[in-house]
Amino acid sequence: MLIERPRRLRINEQIRSLVRETRLSTKELMYPIFVKDGKGIKEEIGAMPGQYRYSIDMLSEEIKAVQEAGVNHVILFGIPFDEDHDACGSSAHDPNGIVQRAIREIKEHSDIFVTTDVCLCEYTDHGHCGILDPDGYVNNDKTLEVLAKTALSHVEAGADMVAPSDMMDGHIAALRSILDENNFVNTPIMAYAVKYASNFYGPFREAANSAPGKGDRKGYQMDYHNSREAEVEAALDVKEGADIIMVKPALPYLDIIAKLRPQIKKPMAAYCVSGEYSMMKLAVDKGIVSEDLIYESHIAMKRAGADAILTYFAKDLGKFLQEV
Ligand code: PBG
Repeated sequence: MLIERPRRLRINEQIRSLVRETRLSTKELMYPIFVKDGKGIKEEIGAMPGQYRYSIDMLSEEIKAVQEAGVNHVILFGIPFDEDHDACGSSAHDPNGIVQRAIREIKEHSDIFVTTDVCLCEYTDHGHCGILDPDGYVNNDKTLEVLAKTALSHVEAGADMVAPSDMMDGHIAALRSILDENNFVNTPIMAYAVKYASNFYGPFREAANSAPGKGDRKGYQMDYHNSREAEVEAALDVKEGADIIMVKPALPYLDIIAKLRPQIKKPMAAYCVSGEYSMMKLAVDKGIVSEDLIYESHIAMKRAGADAILTYFAKDLGKFLQEV
């Protein structure tokens, strides 16, 4: 006689959902929004069907849609006018820059939690995430000063949390100290701690017009052949004061999330990036795979150990989760 019959717990949806190990809630989702300088803009991003760039005057409606889907978190990316790009990315910390104005607009009309991406690649004329030395090397310590100023300007404009995505060494310490000096001791930092130099960011660079003009990001983002290095990067950011540790991309890097999970006592986030979105979205739209694949993929990120997920599917998942 068979004593052990694991199928007993799979007989119907009621018993399956009673013993389910992983769940997904709208509360854990963060929606990325591209804000573009200009007026009356809601333009679809070619490489990311269903995702748009918005000008500030078009934001309120979008924020309402996000909240209606049960999602309480957005992360902002800025796209300044072409003429506002320079070698040092100075428009990144302009108190009247695109992100700073967007924060004020959102905060005036809603109570949604606003996180900002802190990086220079959308603001430099060369498209790198920092300041270049004459030989093309991204100068780590000079870049830290500009990043810190940028983070402070976001928080001064009303951002609830900052998320540095530059992958400079010492970035969390630099941000923590400028925020603390300015009495923002309670503003959390979500570190893009483990960010690989990934081909999966391709569609984002079209969306944000932020591809490096020359070279690539392999001199600062992580080598995707490496796994132990993720432990070093995550531990450093924790030590420097990061409040949330992010791994990016998500689906192809579940091994990294799962490996870090028992070591990192801080909350962990996963970023399901633009390339992941576009691959899934196009396959679903073509009818090649079931739409349920999207939910399954996000469950996989949670099962691996993520507490929160940044995802372009946040609104769709939110609507879906409200129904089930
Ligand atoms: C800025 C930044 C990037 C992403 C998040 N912040 C692009 C990059 O590093 O090239 C990627 C997000 C995505 O692909 O969805 N440095």
